[in-house]
Amino acid sequence: MPNDRNLLLKLENLSARIGRQVVLSNVSLSIKTGECVAVVGGSGAGKSTLLRCLMGLTRPASPFEGRLVFNGKETHFPLLQNARKPERIAYVPQNPDQGFDPLKRLAWQWRQASRIITGASDFTDRQKQLLEQLGLKPFGRSFPHEWSRGMQQRLLVAMALIGEPRLLILDEPTSALDPLIAAQVLRAVKAYAELHDIAVLIVTHDLSLAARNAHSTAIMNSGRVVEFGETATLLSSPQSDYGRLLVKHRDWTVLSNPQSSGSITAEQSFDAVS
Ligand SMILES: Nc1ncnc2c1ncn2[C@@H]1O[C@H](COP(=O)(O)OP(=O)(O)OP(=O)(O)O)[C@@H](O)[C@H]1O
Ligand SMILES: [Mg+2]
Repeated sequence: MPNDRNLLLKLENLSARIGRQVVLSNVSLSIKTGECVAVVGGSGAGKSTLLRCLMGLTRPASPFEGRLVFNGKETHFPLLQNARKPERIAYVPQNPDQGFDPLKRLAWQWRQASRIITGASDFTDRQKQLLEQLGLKPFGRSFPHEWSRGMQQRLLVAMALIGEPRLLILDEPTSALDPLIAAQVLRAVKAYAELHDIAVLIVTHDLSLAARNAHSTAIMNSGRVVEFGETATLLSSPQSDYGRLLVKHRDWTVLSNPQSSGSITAEQSFDAVS
């Protein structure tokens, strides 16, 4: 059980609907400070809806019951009309194409993001350090297409980190990338998050990605969290029918503890080629 002192986010019994359809039912999960948590589930399971509710959005799904404690602040659902969105949660979209204007230089886009998030467009020492720590070079006069997809994705993450969030949400962070580049991006992001005690919530279809990266995992099906717990335990002995179905065809314990076997994961093969 999580130690309450280290608890960054605690969600209890969140339910939400779109029109008359209930799309989330009694969803509970928790995230500790600096922890990496995965939400895994098939298409339509409610993963993106859950993220939107955590960010305080009420469309298209409106949360009608539940309680959220994030960073010491408590929120009850349904939200009051003038409720403030939770601060210090950052979100990175799935695809770099959704995050950049192809016709504007990267330096301009960075300044805009900085102005919106911090109120100032100065390129601070902390921001320079942030780019360096994510392995990014100076923008020069580059446009987005002049950078590789992996670099664009890391830059989107860097933009999300300008505001020094406590929680970084990555929605399907690797689906638009080649697997080796995806592993490189995730490794850079996780290293930065660990260094700065930022929790990371990864939403994915890919159980092996959860196995390699997340300390805890929530498995979702039909708007419910059917399992939530330590990833290694959950993969080695799933308790629900859906969880058992999901883990059945692979020995995920190998991936959750790569040192324990000779199997090569995407991350290890990246190490081998770089
Ligand atoms: N704009 C919308 N209008 C009506 N129903 C919607 C809308 N967006 C999502 N839904 C419904 O809400 C449910 C949850 O969808 P959600 O997008 O959260 O799933 P998901 O797990 O993120 O799926 P995916 O892996 O495909 O992104 C689904 O039944 C979906 O059909
Ligand atoms: Mg989704």
